[in-house]
Formats: sequence, C-alpha cells, structure tokens
Amino acid sequence: MEKKPLVILITGASSGIGLDTALEFLKKGAVVYGAARRVELLKPIEDSGGHGLFCDVTDIKSIAKCVKEVIKKEKKIDVLVNNAGFGLGGSVEEVPLEEAKKQFDVNVFGLTEMTKAVLPYMRKQKSGRIINVSSIGGQFSSPFLGWYHASKWCVEALSDSLRMETRPYGIKVSIIEPGLTRTDWGVITAKNIRKNSVIEDYSYNANKVAEYYEKYYVSTNTKIAKPVVIAKAIIKAAYSSHPKARYRTGTFASLYVNGHKYFPTWLYDFAMRILMKTK
Ligand SMILES: NC(=O)c1ccc[n+]([C@@H]2O[C@H](COP(=O)([O-])OP(=O)(O)OC[C@H]3O[C@@H](n4cnc5c(N)ncnc54)[C@H](OP(=O)(O)O)[C@@H]3O)[C@@H](O)[C@H]2O)c1
Repeated sequence: MEKKPLVILITGASSGIGLDTALEFLKKGAVVYGAARRVELLKPIEDSGGHGLFCDVTDIKSIAKCVKEVIKKEKKIDVLVNNAGFGLGGSVEEVPLEEAKKQFDVNVFGLTEMTKAVLPYMRKQKSGRIINVSSIGGQFSSPFLGWYHASKWCVEALSDSLRMETRPYGIKVSIIEPGLTRTDWGVITAKNIRKNSVIEDYSYNANKVAEYYEKYYVSTNTKIAKPVVIAKAIIKAAYSSHPKARYRTGTFASLYVNGHKYFPTWLYDFAMRILMKTK
C-alpha cells in the first residue's frame, strides 16, 4: 500500500531556514503548511504546491486558528517544526524588560504554545514529531546576546523534558542546533545590539560584537552555511525511523560548542574576546 504523504506545519516559514525547510519538504512530496506573520512572503511555498497560513506565535488565538485550519483540511499533523525566532541583542543591563519578555514570548512561549496546540492531535494519532529549532547558542553563551542564549537554553531544556514525556504516545522530539547560517537573523541581531547600546561603558564592546555579526551575515566576503543545510537536517529528523535527539550543523557549530564544553572558563572567555575583538 502506498504511504500517505506527511503533513507538516512549519512556523517562521516566511524567510531563511523556515522557508528553505518548507521547500525541501515539498520536494519530498509532503503536504506543507508554512506559517508566519508576513504572509506575502509565503508565496514561494504556495507556488511550489504548499499552503501559506498567518500565524503570530505570540498570540494564542492565532495559534489555535492556524492549527485548526490544518486539522480541518488534513485531519492530522505529522510534523510540527517550531522554527520562528529572532535574536535579541544587547547587554543584560541595557536590554529593557519588555524586550526581554518579547524574546521569550517568541522563542520560548511561542514554541511551547504551538506544541501544546498540536499535541492533543498527535497523542490521539499515537504518532508525530516535534522538531524544535534551537541554536548552538543553546549550548554556550556569548556577550551582548544573553537574552537570546537564555531563550535557547530554555528551548533545549523544555525539548528534553518533552521528549521523555511524549515518548509513550509515539511522539518523537528532536532539537536542531544551527551554527552561523546566512539568513536575516544576523542582520536583525546586529541591529538590536546597536539599538540597545545606550550606556557609554558598554559601547566599544557592543560595537565590536555587532561588527562580528555583520562580518558574517552582511558582508559577502565571508562564507557561512546556507539555510538549506539546516533544512536538510530538519528533513532527516522528520523522516528517519530513529531520529536523533539533537542535530548540530552549520558554520562553527562544533567549534563553539566543544570550546565551551572542554575549555576551562578563563580560556573560553579569552577565546571569545579574541574572536569578537572585545576588551
Ligand atoms: N541564522 C542563524 O545563524 C541561526 C543560528 C542558530 C539558530 N537560528 C534559529 O533559526 C530559526 C530561524 O531563523 P532564521 O535564521 O531563518 O532567521 P529569519 O530569516 O529572520 O527567520 C525568522 C522567522 O521567524 C518568524 N517570526 C519571528 N517572530 C515571529 C512571530 N512573533 N510569530 C511568527 N513568526 C515569527 C519570521 O516570520 P515573520 O516575521 O513573517 O512572522 C521569520 O520567518 C530561529 O529560531 C533562530 O533563532 C538561526
């Protein structure tokens, strides 16, 4: 008997990793729903045979509507890819509380609320996959990105708990840890660092860290992984019969994570200062 195509729901599908993931799933013959706020950017997905949906992951009503629409049409969701996220830059002291909350609203609570909306259907089906796009930044920390790291450390912890909790019901949970990947992420992050740099004491280092991201994400002189590299790891997590708990890929992925894991703290901090040219 021919296998039914997988039904996939991807958040943050309007650009970067989410968009490429949607297009890769379509090439595999999956039924793809790409969700985002900027629905006009979902046209490449629709043009390739997929569906575009509005979803603001910080709005519970929007999440419910989006999930219900997929269920109404397809009667199931096989794979949820929680990909929507952004990088809030700025020192811990400078980032206003409201912005820090927004970071968690999107990267953490957006991901958990999407998951909570989909899980009742997956538990009923006794099958399903949740693929959470974390970051290598969920395994270490760097200056002027503390709130982003904190949000991704949360994603790692929550995903590990979720994996153990949902296993009895046939649901598999994987974490994707992208390294540096050429999307809008770095441009937005560098902009945030500069915007939140208001205290003179921090301005030299803030500037250096923003320049570091601009060097990789804005300049065309440096090469970092294309989003399709991460999309392929997500495809593996969706189709493998024994998906891994973690897929780490992209530029500098192992370098940063292993540096943090194996270096003594003083050496790791020193390496960060050299890398980012900070004081
Ligand atoms: N690029 C990297 O180097 C890198 C490295 C590690 C991890 N990551 C992670 O990879 C994921 C994808 O990022 P990307 O690199 O592809 O960056 P991107 O091109 O900026 O894409 C981010 C996506 O998130 C969506 N989004 C943001 N806020 C949202 C909200 N409130 N509701 C719904 N969607 C929202 C955006 O869609 P709308 O604005 O249209 O809603 C956009 O589609 C993120 O979780 C990011 O943290 C990226």
